[in-house]
Amino acid sequence: MSFQHVSETFSFLRDRLPECLRTPQVAIICGSGLGGLASTIQRLPQIEFDYASIPHFPRSTVAGHAGKLVFGLLNGEVPAVLMVGRAHYYEGHSIDQVTFPIRVFKLLGVDTLILTNAAGGLNPEYMVGDIVLLNDHIFLAGLAGVHPLRGPNAEEFGPRFPALSDAYDLELRCQVHNAWVTTVGAENKRRLHEGVYAFVGGPSYETRAECRMLRQLGADLVGMSTVPEIVVARHCGIRVLALSLVTNNAVLSPVPRGDDHLLQGKNVDELDTILQEGKADHEEVLEAGRTAAMDMQRLVIQTVANVFKRSSHGDATGNQ
Ligand code: HPA
Repeated sequence: MSFQHVSETFSFLRDRLPECLRTPQVAIICGSGLGGLASTIQRLPQIEFDYASIPHFPRSTVAGHAGKLVFGLLNGEVPAVLMVGRAHYYEGHSIDQVTFPIRVFKLLGVDTLILTNAAGGLNPEYMVGDIVLLNDHIFLAGLAGVHPLRGPNAEEFGPRFPALSDAYDLELRCQVHNAWVTTVGAENKRRLHEGVYAFVGGPSYETRAECRMLRQLGADLVGMSTVPEIVVARHCGIRVLALSLVTNNAVLSPVPRGDDHLLQGKNVDELDTILQEGKADHEEVLEAGRTAAMDMQRLVIQTVANVFKRSSHGDATGNQ
């Protein structure tokens, strides 16, 4: 990824932003169906850019993912930039393009990145509609060399060999749990978990055998985004908070077998119904996103309010 392109995009945006929004502290990437966050922020004036109008910015082509960058004040005070829709690797973007916005955010001055996504639940305790705070990830493609930091190191941004053992900021996770207890969690059945996210390239959903493999490797969730962006954010020292909405449960039971005696005599429709059980479906993913989006939004907003109150006014003991 060329530094020249990142800085051209940075200059393009900066030149068009009013003083109060020129240095966003927080960047939020809104996943499938979770773009409603953008309507909760105060924009003074209305500042948003279609991805297509921003030089070098990758565009999302997926139905249900708008493509715009929105600048505004979260809770009326915290300057923030929101990505409504993101580019995915499965759309054919290179891994450099997928992570390009993160370095633009770094140049703008962002120090905290919040990512949301839709994911399949591999942990049998997770229900559709639950929210999971990521505390680690499995990046099979990255381990095999499909990695956003491959190539000459971008020294302007970070070190050659960044550690990722501390990728998921602990203070931010504590704050989310606090926000959960005082707001969303107190009022409904939805549950908040912490878990490990496995990145897959997509766009096909996983087979049953792949789901079992990922579960055995230690993953609680599976999805097609987020991890490349997190790797690039950590490389340049941005702290990270990531939240998944469980939109479907991955099927862990083995595929029905053609030599199962119990299936003999069933007609084509009956066999089809048995095979379809639990099948992932993009519409289902979007629908779960729609109904849970409000809770996810409130959780993010409350967390930002708590975190930035603490950092600008010191903690309860008066320490700065
Ligand atoms: N697998 C991969 N990505 C996903 C899934 C899934 O089951 N659900 C939502 N995004």
